[in-house]
Amino acid sequence: MKCVDDFRLRLGSHELVPIVVGGMGVDISTSTLAVEVARLGGIGHISDAMVHTVTDRRFHTHYVKDRLKRYKFNVGNLDKSVAQFDLGLLAEATRLHIGSTMEAKRGSGLVFMNCMEKLTMNNPRETLRVRLRSAMDAGIDGITLAAGLHLSSFALIQDHPRFHDVKLGIIVSSLRALQLFLKKNARGSGRLPDYIVVEGPLAGGHLGFGEEDWMKYDLATILVEIQDWLHAEKLDIPLIPAGGIFTGGDAAKFLEQGAAAVQVATRFTVTRECGLPDDVKQAYFRANEDQVVVNNVSPTGYPMRMLKGCPALGSGVRPNCEAFGYLLDASGHCQYAEAWEREKAKLPEGEKPKIWDKTCLCTHMRNFHCWTCGHFAWRLKETSLRESDGNYRLLSVEHVFHDYQYSVGEQIELPSRD
Ligand SMILES: Cc1cc2nc3c(=O)[nH]c(=O)nc-3n(C[C@H](O)[C@H](O)[C@H](O)COP(=O)(O)O)c2cc1C
Repeated sequence: MKCVDDFRLRLGSHELVPIVVGGMGVDISTSTLAVEVARLGGIGHISDAMVHTVTDRRFHTHYVKDRLKRYKFNVGNLDKSVAQFDLGLLAEATRLHIGSTMEAKRGSGLVFMNCMEKLTMNNPRETLRVRLRSAMDAGIDGITLAAGLHLSSFALIQDHPRFHDVKLGIIVSSLRALQLFLKKNARGSGRLPDYIVVEGPLAGGHLGFGEEDWMKYDLATILVEIQDWLHAEKLDIPLIPAGGIFTGGDAAKFLEQGAAAVQVATRFTVTRECGLPDDVKQAYFRANEDQVVVNNVSPTGYPMRMLKGCPALGSGVRPNCEAFGYLLDASGHCQYAEAWEREKAKLPEGEKPKIWDKTCLCTHMRNFHCWTCGHFAWRLKETSLRESDGNYRLLSVEHVFHDYQYSVGEQIELPSRD
């Protein structure tokens, strides 16, 4: 029986262990986690989502406080178009976050940035341009374009000196999305993606499927459909399936079927290097299957998978767009801010609303209150030991990575007893 270590991922001149740890914003896949994956010979992702607050936490800068001070006068206004991001400061924060990560990188693996394009930041095109270009300036090895693919992202960076050096990949959930991207984007800029992550319906984070119909789709089927089409078009682009690949055996099966690597994430949420607070990691361990739900609370408009009991659901926090504002669309509106105003208007003055149909993703992701996870989060308890105090033992990135790399079949390597 084969294991992941029997395969290698070739990306340009790099030969890698074919394990990619996907981006987990906001700072759930920390710099430390990504650097450790690279040391082990795979590809680790950091995310640039809410980069100002991440940088404030890591480097004691005060981007968020300064932004709030500047726009506080607008808090009561539903139109947030005045609260524009300062592009110079965005570039500075991105360079700080990415640059320090790349400096810490050791070993033969790579560190990529997950760029959620659906963070429209009150000015989708210009903020995206700055995010991509400053990550390239700061030496990132690769960029994975995610959620809400912009159809001309490559054009925003095609005159950057590192355009042909940085590995560029995309996440798609259907052949149609891939075809659209290639037609509008890659061919126009004369550059194809270096890899394609095919994300199925069991993944964590935002999903490229409907809230009601995700269960009708299956990763292996979508992968074969894309594989066949690329073959017919004579396009040789490595495919990386993602979503619900829980064991080394699951991963090896995809590699045997021609995948170049696998992208995984949920198993790493319970590692010490993961950015979630320890009590949240325990909630992930304890989760049962009926607590893992797909809903439509994200103001991005995409369905998202999360744990039902997380504090982000039913919270009535005041919208924080003047401090954060990452989900403001091109006209300065956020679906959560609108839902909040609607509910507040129904209540007597001073009473706090409870919002169930949308969540303030900025505030709750920033505070680790939105517990997004893959479908198999309920199996995390199978991957560790329970201590005498009832808590589960946190794992190391190295342990989980090696379990994926060397385990066969249904095997899951538990941490040692001592
Ligand atoms: C906690 C968490 C946060 C995530 N955040 C993001 C994100 O910010 N951007 C993104 O493209 N994917 C995100 N994902 C999806 C992962 O990168 C990955 O593709 C997917 O979860 C893999 O499936 P698995 O979790 O079943 O292994 C997230 C997943 C998890 C579990």
